[in-house]
Amino acid sequence: MTQLPANFLWGGALAAHQFEGGWNAGGKGPSVVDVMTAGAHGVPRRITDTVEEGTFYPNHEAIDFYHRYKEDIALFAEMGLKCLRTSIGWSRIFPQGIEETPNEEGLQFYDDVFDELLKHGIEPVITLSHFEMPLYLAREYGGFRSRKVIDCFVRFAEVCFDRYKDKVKYWMTFNEINNKMDVNNPLFLWTNSGVMVQEGENPKEVMYQASHHELVASALAVAKGKAINPDFQIGAMVSHVPIYPYSSNPEDVMLAEEEMRQRYFFPDVHVRGYYPSYALKEFEREGYNIVFEEGDDEILRNGTVDYLGFSYYMSTTVKSDVNNDNTGDIVNGGLPNSVANPYIQSSDWGWAIDPTGLRYTLNRFYDRYQIPLFIVENGFGAIDTVEEDGSIHDHARIEYLKSHIEALEKAVTYDGVDLLGYTPWGIIDIVSFTTGEMKKRYGMIYVDRDNEGNGSMERYKKDSFEWYKQVIASRGEQL
Ligand code: BG6
Repeated sequence: MTQLPANFLWGGALAAHQFEGGWNAGGKGPSVVDVMTAGAHGVPRRITDTVEEGTFYPNHEAIDFYHRYKEDIALFAEMGLKCLRTSIGWSRIFPQGIEETPNEEGLQFYDDVFDELLKHGIEPVITLSHFEMPLYLAREYGGFRSRKVIDCFVRFAEVCFDRYKDKVKYWMTFNEINNKMDVNNPLFLWTNSGVMVQEGENPKEVMYQASHHELVASALAVAKGKAINPDFQIGAMVSHVPIYPYSSNPEDVMLAEEEMRQRYFFPDVHVRGYYPSYALKEFEREGYNIVFEEGDDEILRNGTVDYLGFSYYMSTTVKSDVNNDNTGDIVNGGLPNSVANPYIQSSDWGWAIDPTGLRYTLNRFYDRYQIPLFIVENGFGAIDTVEEDGSIHDHARIEYLKSHIEALEKAVTYDGVDLLGYTPWGIIDIVSFTTGEMKKRYGMIYVDRDNEGNGSMERYKKDSFEWYKQVIASRGEQL
């Protein structure tokens, strides 16, 4: 393979709630994730009203990075990471979300982490909200249903931008802001927006109203950030699962095109600064009453993003004469017309493995937006086996990552896509978001902890550790 540019940001990605632990340490308040129990593949995580005594919450201790960050960062440095994408626990800074003054201990924790990263030459890439609103805002105001929460978020963003203005250049406002388009899974609206749909409500209408508030909050934060440091690069972050037509039947092609609007809606607003016409038509057609306040249009126009970050794990395929709603079956991708793609294999968790879909995505995004892109998540969740000597031969993971890096290199060197970097998900094993399991592992560093919270928390290098180190050292030439 050809080398990628010297400034290409090879890294790893994590999210505060999935690896930090210390859920109530240093003055941190509970977040929406702190009331989520463990689930499993096909078994949803339960959202409890408060933190129940005697219930196991996997994110509370996670992998205890809070107390082990020096040791973990030293391992990231040994791997040669150029950047680390992580997030700031909102309720570490504002425990309830409404305080006048931020929590100094929380701010200091991230100062310490960023200093440690920078000491090792690792650039922090920071998401402000990765599924972690303070629980109080969700319970008291219904999360982003309320405009009040826009102010709370913007204040949080401003405090972080100001405090870390000399340490962090790359920011993202909301992680996977679009995954709540799937209103069938309550987890997404809850973690994205602190919203629970009530009986009698139209979930899509509720989702679009909360989304409007988040898009306004994001745009306001971008404008504030730029005023604090004009060199900031502030991006959006979406989950991208491209939707293929099952066949060349024009009905399949048009259906896929229409379904792709679910994927494009958020980046269209973030990047262009206005609502796309297909969305306005949908609101009209469905009779959704989405309240826009005076001035919102201008806010959106003035807060467009510098780059588009996205996660890519899989693709999905739709067929026009299929309706899973009738059969009750939700196949691969969660759309009513999803079908299995006969050309693609899936992981143990049913996620389709499709490296070409990554090159396809990079091209479609770049053609549409013409701004830099950043692959801020990609990876392979799998069960790992620890051998007697402590080694872990995770060749399936290496194969997955290798094929995706080949695809992105082609997008850069052949197609000419402007790509800032690549941060594979869960560089160290962490708690799975959708299932709360530890056994769904993405890391190149193994953590001795199981689904029930047992284990020594010792860290071990997997085979992928040395492999990725050589990929980075050779700037992507030696795969
Ligand atoms: C993305 C999220 O949805 O996918 C991460 O941004 C998440 O937080 C990742 O962990 C992988 O999902 P899971 O459920 O396998 O952990």
